[in-house]
Amino acid sequence: MSNLVQLTKMDGIAVVTIDNPPVNALSAAVSAGIAAAVAQIEKDDTIKVVVFIGAGRTFIAGADIKEFGELTSGKIICRESLKPLLVRIEDLRARVVMAIHGTAFGGGLELAMAGHYRIALPSAQVGQPEVKLGIIPGAAGTQRLPRLAGVAKAVEMCAEGAPVKAEDALKAGILDRLVEGDLLAGAVAFAKEVVAKPAPKTRERSEKLGTPEENAAIFAAAHETARKKQRGLLAPLAAIDAIEAATRLSFEQGCQKEEELFTKCLFSDQSKALIHAFFGEREVAKIPDVPKETPTLGVDSVGIVGAGTMGGGIAMVFANAGIPVLLKETDQAALDRGLANIQKNYANSVKRGRFTQQFVDERLKLIRPTLEYGEFAGVSMVVEAVFESMALKKEVFNQLDRICKQGAILATNTSSLNIDEIASATSRPQSVIGTHFFSPANVMRLLEIVRGAATGKEVMATCMQLSKKLGKVGVLVGNCMGFVGNRMFGPYRREAQFLVEEGASVEAVDNALYAFGMAMGPLATGDLAGLDVGWRIRKEFRHLEKPGVRQAFIEDRLCELGRFGQKTGAGWYKYDENRKTSPDQQVAALIRQWTSEVGIPQRQISAEEIVERCIYTLVNEGARLLEEGIALRAVDIDIIYLNGYGFPAYRGGPMWYADTVGLKKVCERIREYQQRLGSWWEPAPLLQRLAEQGKTFAEFSGRQGAAA
Ligand code: 3HC
Ligand code: NAI
Repeated sequence: MSNLVQLTKMDGIAVVTIDNPPVNALSAAVSAGIAAAVAQIEKDDTIKVVVFIGAGRTFIAGADIKEFGELTSGKIICRESLKPLLVRIEDLRARVVMAIHGTAFGGGLELAMAGHYRIALPSAQVGQPEVKLGIIPGAAGTQRLPRLAGVAKAVEMCAEGAPVKAEDALKAGILDRLVEGDLLAGAVAFAKEVVAKPAPKTRERSEKLGTPEENAAIFAAAHETARKKQRGLLAPLAAIDAIEAATRLSFEQGCQKEEELFTKCLFSDQSKALIHAFFGEREVAKIPDVPKETPTLGVDSVGIVGAGTMGGGIAMVFANAGIPVLLKETDQAALDRGLANIQKNYANSVKRGRFTQQFVDERLKLIRPTLEYGEFAGVSMVVEAVFESMALKKEVFNQLDRICKQGAILATNTSSLNIDEIASATSRPQSVIGTHFFSPANVMRLLEIVRGAATGKEVMATCMQLSKKLGKVGVLVGNCMGFVGNRMFGPYRREAQFLVEEGASVEAVDNALYAFGMAMGPLATGDLAGLDVGWRIRKEFRHLEKPGVRQAFIEDRLCELGRFGQKTGAGWYKYDENRKTSPDQQVAALIRQWTSEVGIPQRQISAEEIVERCIYTLVNEGARLLEEGIALRAVDIDIIYLNGYGFPAYRGGPMWYADTVGLKKVCERIREYQQRLGSWWEPAPLLQRLAEQGKTFAEFSGRQGAAA
């Protein structure tokens, strides 16, 4: 027997322990170990009950996702299906009890459903999260789950992929009992109870499979939800189809259908991209010159300066993680406004069922408003979120330097300003760092963590660790104007405006990028964020513009007319009092008038050109950031774009997408645009080099230890 799976026997009870740290992934070797244990149990009549349990922190978190990558890239040629092994487990003479703690996800839950009984600790979770990887359950999950939990619950779990808490799983019939305390002891006690009871085989059950009429309504509603909530994704629809097969075919035929759909999904570009995103999210936490062992500083209280849009949201983020917050403003009216916004946001969360009233009451108690810096002397971290003005930020940091204790982290939420210049206002630049939250801060998952030239390693390590505690994906980047996300977003949005100047309609530009999969078109995004923000920045930096280089001008003109976007009821679009969007003919007419005044020839522009120009501009700037070492790896850029800018996850992020198109083709197209449109289309040197060498961004190892 392998050391990944151990079989022990005592008093007619066999215990199969899966021990494959960290999450007991069901690799080929683990499956082989289980098969060997099953073979021994099949031969041993003295075994009356078998308990399957996970060693360490969890049951089984699913199949080994790395092996999927090896399969689709051709590194391994076939993967043995788990299905026959699960049938053998289900057919054992002995009663099979699955004892679950931590997570029983994917293949883990599929194994558990092949047992005759399932017990769990109350803290456990079960789920079929495969859709998040662009696949569907591949070991009969779509066939056994509806038989255990009913069609509606199975559809919800397999198509949406969300985890289900033990208590809900018990109610749904997925679990038979929750046990407190020692799980193995609970499983042995449970085993003694069921030794003389029947051995129900999930695959032979049909009482929860529903009628064709009931099921038709469930499938129709699920298709509708999947198309809306998981736009563009193939796997949720495949999961629904596989469950539909469970309701009208035999178990064996249903399994065949599942296999076909699973294989199709696994070899799709979507699955490769989503698996890249899964590992990418974990990879960004690994920083070559800030190793895992770097000491961290405890963050048990935080001071936030500014209770505006961002400060209020950031206060909620810390309070939600149980960290007490001191929230400072300049005057009572601003403080009251900030607190009222926080209360309104929490009230909405209660209305939508995201939080209970009790949870919210507890969080609100953690946020203490103040107009003074006095108590900032005690906090372990400060996040500054005042207006985007260097002079103001320096003044605030100078004050923080005088008040805060030594070792306190002094973080700024600036979205573009130079971290080193802000740090220069203190006597301790090693404690200064950028923590760039995205709006709305309590919702968006991305946290860009910006290292200055002097930022201490323990400060970076602490912020990276903190990001996880706050429920965010932290990505460490270097210091430059706009950092990674916004520096790339600038040229992307500028290209969108150029397209409008050349004859594309506002809606055509947004629709093309929405159809590509972006959560929102670039012009509508501008309206949402406020066109005036960029306008002010452009005015401030106008002296840096290179003469003769084309600049977009329509947004400036819209701002001059007071059209700042949603907040003023008009921008690129017009908005009613509920912020419902509609195209604005007046804007269309103004654009044609302005472009004819400056003599820009008008033409028909295809959706393909719109997507290519906007996305390739993004990629080109990404290549520069990569070469400069501002982004550590291509995957860091991808994770930033997937979590902060609405880039479609099933395309893996801009750099992954470019790799899948092929850098040679991307570079050629960029060169063509350079000839046709102008110098701003010059391909980034790194892109040219990789294209010539036939390499990908993923293969470029960056400047390890850079991002500084
Ligand atoms: N396969 C391979 N590696 C896995 C893995 C898996 N299923 N799940 C997690 N890991 C790895 C992670 O990459 C990470 O590796 P690293 O330390 O080298 O970066 C390590 O295990 C720890 O993972 P996390 O950092 O994510 O640990 P957390 O405690 O934060 O989260 C978890 C644990 C909730 C289990 C989370 O890892 C998770 O959601 N895992 C994926 C679950 C999943 O998608 N399962 C379905 C797989 S597909 C399947 O089962 C198909 C089947 O139907 C045939
Ligand atoms: P905001 O204008 O909504 O809020 C700023 C708040 O700071 C105001 O309430 C103001 O009264 C307060 N303030 C000013 N001086 C202060 C002082 N000395 N002490 C205490 N409070 C003070 O601005 P917003 O949008 O919240 O932006 C804050 C920072 O976050 C800026 O640096 C901005 O660039 C950045 N940011 C903004 C994003 C957004 O989408 N709004 C996204 C990411 C970063």
